[in-house]
Amino acid sequence: MENRKKGRVMSGIRSTGFLHLGNYFGAIRNYVRMQEEYDCFFMVADIHSLTTHPDTKELKPNVHRVLAENIACGLDPEKVALYCQSHIYETAELYLYLNMLAYKGELEKTTTFKDKVRQHPENVNAGLLTYPVLQAADILLHQASYVPVGKDQEQHLEMCRNFANRFNHRYGEVFPEPYAFNFGEDLVKVPGLDGSGKMSKSENQNATIFLADEDEVIRKKVMKAKTDAGPSEPNMPMPDYIENIFNLMKLVSTPDVLAKFQHDYNQAIIRYGDMKKQLADDMVAFIAPIREKSEAIRNNESYLRNIMEMGAEKARKSARLTMEKVRTVMGLKYY
Ligand code: TYM
Repeated sequence: MENRKKGRVMSGIRSTGFLHLGNYFGAIRNYVRMQEEYDCFFMVADIHSLTTHPDTKELKPNVHRVLAENIACGLDPEKVALYCQSHIYETAELYLYLNMLAYKGELEKTTTFKDKVRQHPENVNAGLLTYPVLQAADILLHQASYVPVGKDQEQHLEMCRNFANRFNHRYGEVFPEPYAFNFGEDLVKVPGLDGSGKMSKSENQNATIFLADEDEVIRKKVMKAKTDAGPSEPNMPMPDYIENIFNLMKLVSTPDVLAKFQHDYNQAIIRYGDMKKQLADDMVAFIAPIREKSEAIRNNESYLRNIMEMGAEKARKSARLTMEKVRTVMGLKYY
């Protein structure tokens, strides 16, 4: 069965709160597209979330939410391995071995580490520093080649390839080189509604559209997006914050709607109020069914337990095979 598939896929999402449009268009949409043809491992990165969110009381509802939202977006737990990172103990073992191949200097230079140090100077723990090593363990544990992720994860993937190559050179060929994957297109970066940076769980919540947002909340956030008086003459260059609104429209609106507003912009007759109203309508139409489906799944604890058990079983099977190879090439068998 496995051999007929196009290759191994692995990806994960942290359980740090509500998922948003960035998570959907950067990651989950591709999970769903890949599930038929590839051999897929998708995971809730609950251990990674402890690097910044140490309160374990939040974990259960957050893990349930990530699982439910993934399934509501179209992921089929029968077709993929959908599991929790902490349920696969082999991850911790591989992480430990890979840590010996990761250098303090390169870890300190990682963009996400530097961002987190800036945001939480009071909690710069070793788990945060070695975050990319744990992520590499998640991927390499399944000997995956394709990693569907958003643009912000590119550097982590490069580090993962470095760790894999170092392991292969030092001990013996076990790991293929994994690459960030978006069907040959550039990796996605969904912008925030405030025109600065990307949509994210932690930064400006008003600039982020969550998959759990109610219709009215979505409308309010979209209508508040930054605009200006509009172009004063035809074919003017677009300011970043206006381009962001067009980029968001590209994701949820139909091509003819997008073309109409692009035309209006170029003719300098655009009405941003109308454009945002249209974008809000299209976002609501996109998100409402996901939100409703996810609520129903989240309330079905026994279904979620079954999903997690089934996923962990599939993931453990693959993890055990990899760790057998790892221990063998490392020469840890003394008998
Ligand atoms: P996390 O939880 O931050 O993000 C999950 C996925 O969503 C993507 N993403 C975005 N894509 C486009 N535009 C945005 N604004 C945006 N915001 C988030 C992320 O790129 C990611 O694909 N380190 C990972 C979790 C992880 C992982 C792994 C991923 C742990 N182990 C193994 C791949 C393979 C993370 O921080 O995800």
